[in-house]
Amino acid sequence: MDKTYLTTKTLMLVVALTFPTLATGAEKHGGDIWFKDTKNFAPVIFSHDKHGGAGNPCTDCHDTIFKKEKGSADAGNAMTMKTLKQGEYCGTCHDGQKAFSVKSSCKKCHIKP
Ligand code: HEC
Ligand code: HEC
Ligand code: HEC
Repeated sequence: MDKTYLTTKTLMLVVALTFPTLATGAEKHGGDIWFKDTKNFAPVIFSHDKHGGAGNPCTDCHDTIFKKEKGSADAGNAMTMKTLKQGEYCGTCHDGQKAFSVKSSCKKCHIKP
């Protein structure tokens, strides 16, 4: 074992310990996100895990439908049932074709935490 080899090994170990997500090739996703601007209705759960988790192409949503920043979609109160039903935000997919519709199945999204 020459010195270059050892140095490379050590460097890789340092990278792996410092950036575990880089080492596995998976970008850290946003986990579970709750949307609570729902009046008297139960809040809404969005689960990154249930939307494919780390294996899913992030580009399905980022940054075309959603920014990678919690709260940005509803800034200015733009994300409402009205805009969802018009096919925006969650409604891009939750249209009764790609995924269950926002016009029904209320309790799949609106759940008690
Ligand atoms: C099905 C849609 C969807 C997919 C696919 C998706 N995300 Fe997200 N992501 C969201 C939503 C919704 C939010 C919250 C945006 C908001 O509140 O405006 C979010 C937020 C985030 C945030 C910010 C979290 C915070 O606390 O501010 C990160 C980081 C993120 N996503 C990373 C990823 C990565 C990495 C992937 C791929 C592995 C991914 N997302 C795939 C929908 C998605
Ligand atoms: C795909 C998930 C999803 C489904 C299904 C869904 N909603 Fe929502 N709902 C949301 C999101 C996201 C918001 C916005 C929350 C926020 O901005 O914090 C919302 C907001 C609301 C609000 C607050 C007022 C408004 O319009 O923004 C009410 C009331 C509501 N939903 C009722 C319902 C009812 C009733 C149903 C069934 C007919 C339903 N929702 C189905 C995701 C869903
Ligand atoms: C890129 C498409 C896409 C977007 C955008 C999207 N979803 Fe989904 N979602 C899916 C698919 C596909 C499924 C699984 C198929 C089904 O259940 O109909 C799913 C499933 C779900 C489930 C059921 C999870 C479970 O328990 O199995 C919930 C709740 C949900 N989505 C909420 C949301 C909310 C809230 C948003 C917006 C913040 C959103 N989704 C945006 C595609 C999407």
